[in-house]
Amino acid sequence: MNGPDTLFAFPARLLHWTMAVLILAMLFIGAGMVSTVSAAYPALLAWHRPLGIAILVLALVRLAVRLTHRPPPLPADLPPIQAAAARVSHYLLYALMIAMPLIGWAMQSAGGYPVILWKGVALFPILPHDIVAYGWLRRLHGLLGYAFFLLILGHVGAALVHGLIRRDGVFRSMAGRGG
Ligand code: HEM
Ligand code: HEM
Repeated sequence: MNGPDTLFAFPARLLHWTMAVLILAMLFIGAGMVSTVSAAYPALLAWHRPLGIAILVLALVRLAVRLTHRPPPLPADLPPIQAAAARVSHYLLYALMIAMPLIGWAMQSAGGYPVILWKGVALFPILPHDIVAYGWLRRLHGLLGYAFFLLILGHVGAALVHGLIRRDGVFRSMAGRGG
């Protein structure tokens, strides 16, 4: 089976794989940034901000695609607990794809730092200057960043179980090929 009803819509698949690359890159850029005090910090941050804002825009487009295109059904023999885990984890992935860049933007605003997208183009602040809020948001951005990492690891693990062990078409529904 490989008909239109067994695959995610093409825009959903394109967004999924583009964003998977971008989000994984962002997690490593973020972790690399906070583990250095060298000149690499501002250089990495200069990539981190525009990529993060691009993820926010793509996540909103993806949400619209998700709400207007019915996803393929999960296999009927999938245990209800696994179907529930898939639903909840997908909600959380969407929530983090939108919350992480917003928290990054809010944190930079509260810290009084401009969110420079590229030379000469900066975004408006979304919070007033508030150093206590900056401290909290910075911690929250870090904690949720690592929660995002864990969730993605679980998600990739589940995808591989579907693709390599159950071979039930769930992996193919997003990859277009495979088990
Ligand atoms: C999907 C989007 C994003 C992801 C996955 C992400 C991920 C991360 C991660 C994992 C860290 C390291 C956290 C730590 O260990 O404390 C980090 C740090 C940081 N992020 Fe993001 N981020 C995103 C978006 C943004 C955006 C849009 C901005 C700003 C506009 C931003 C600004 C920062 C800054 C300034 C730091 C360094 C904080 C520090 O020096 O303690 N992030 N990010
Ligand atoms: C890095 C970040 C990733 C994020 C944020 C992410 C997010 C998501 C989300 C939210 C869905 C639900 C479908 C939708 O509405 O878009 C999904 C489905 C899926 N993802 Fe990912 N994904 C990532 C990486 C991966 C990787 C690396 C793989 C493969 C090894 C993968 C395999 C799949 C599969 C097979 C589905 C279909 C599941 C189903 O039918 O319920 N994903 N992904």
